[in-house]
Amino acid sequence: MTVLVTGGMGYIGSHTCVELLQQGMDVVIVDNLVNSSAEAGRRVEQITNRPVTFYQIDVRDRERLDEVFRRHEIDCVIHFAGLKAVGESVRMPLEYYDNNLNSTIVLCQTMRAHGVKKIIFSSSATVYSGDNEMPLYETSRTGSCTNPYGWTKYVCEQVLRDCVAADPTWSVVLLRYFNPVGAHASGLIGEDPRGIPNNLMPFISQTAIGRREILNVFGNDYDTPDGTCIRDYIHVVDLARGHVAAISYLDGHPGESVFNLGTGRGSSVLEMVRAFETANHLVVPYRFAPRRAGDLPVCYACPDKSAEILHWRAQYNIQDMCRDSWNWQTKNPLGYATE
Ligand code: NAD
Ligand code: WQD
Repeated sequence: MTVLVTGGMGYIGSHTCVELLQQGMDVVIVDNLVNSSAEAGRRVEQITNRPVTFYQIDVRDRERLDEVFRRHEIDCVIHFAGLKAVGESVRMPLEYYDNNLNSTIVLCQTMRAHGVKKIIFSSSATVYSGDNEMPLYETSRTGSCTNPYGWTKYVCEQVLRDCVAADPTWSVVLLRYFNPVGAHASGLIGEDPRGIPNNLMPFISQTAIGRREILNVFGNDYDTPDGTCIRDYIHVVDLARGHVAAISYLDGHPGESVFNLGTGRGSSVLEMVRAFETANHLVVPYRFAPRRAGDLPVCYACPDKSAEILHWRAQYNIQDMCRDSWNWQTKNPLGYATE
């Protein structure tokens, strides 16, 4: 079985490639390296002792993508490639719509031309409307996104739904990720954000290692037990394994299915800081700062549908996530860069 993994050099893609290879599947990566390094692929090979085929291609490049489909007998596709920074999407909406929508459209057209009909799409909890009660079910309201990034995920879901409506023999799985953190236990692959991290966990670990002076905790006056926001953090290896489960499900399940990939447990910002300190025996300097625009007070998944239908549940807890993030950070203080 050969899986085409777009965006496979990225954070979630590289961890997923490890799990696919360890399950005996072959992996073909297409990535333009706009937010990643080819070193991730070499590390994936090192962990698994199996080869990875890599094409440095923009998914929107129709001709070169077509060539990949001609060269390889692709059984299914996992589409991770995309831009993902919420704040940047507000400043550069056209780049986000262009990249995230056109990559999905060109990919689906190329799949159709080659008779490949199975795809897993990286969606996000961000497609849920902010006015839902918690936990979020796959049936909770979607839309009313607060930024262009969120809208690109919302529209891509619709594009894929419409592909199924036009040809019901397609199998489409939309995976809505909550907050992926952590790294592979080997410490060889992990999250390597460019510039100042937007997300909490890389900011915590860069502060702990001294690359950042202090963590700003955005808001301590929310209506939550300790006043800081609550999120559903999920270990990236658990998330990666969710894709393996989804691949098994694609077989024999034509149509469109949506699954949350979360733990079902919410943790506050302060709980994450404390967990990081306890797991790694260190101190993370922090201060309270004003709320960040657009943040919801609480967001967590109901993961029961994934458990029942995909037979997948997250195994790791927040201590594991903090330990593995720190292991990656200390072994690779500058990420994949050497200096
Ligand atoms: P990432 O930036 O590490 O990985 C994305 C990869 O896609 C990168 O390697 C990048 O170089 C590549 N890419 C981007 N545009 C491309 C294009 N046009 N052609 C080829 N390659 C391209 O991000 P990630 O955290 O691994 O996220 C993977 C997917 O999951 C993204 O679609 C993201 O939106 C989605 N997602 C991420 C999170 C999260 O918090 N990390 C949460 C929900 C959903
Ligand atoms: C978590 C909490 C912050 C940084 C984002 C995207 C979402 C999805 C996952 C892709 C919040 C607080 C953060 C800091 C802080 N990505 N925080 N200080 O916002 O839940 O989700 O990533 O699909 O679409 O919006 O994650 O890690 O940015 O923030 O206090 O320096 O940590 O306010 O409460 P978020 P995050």
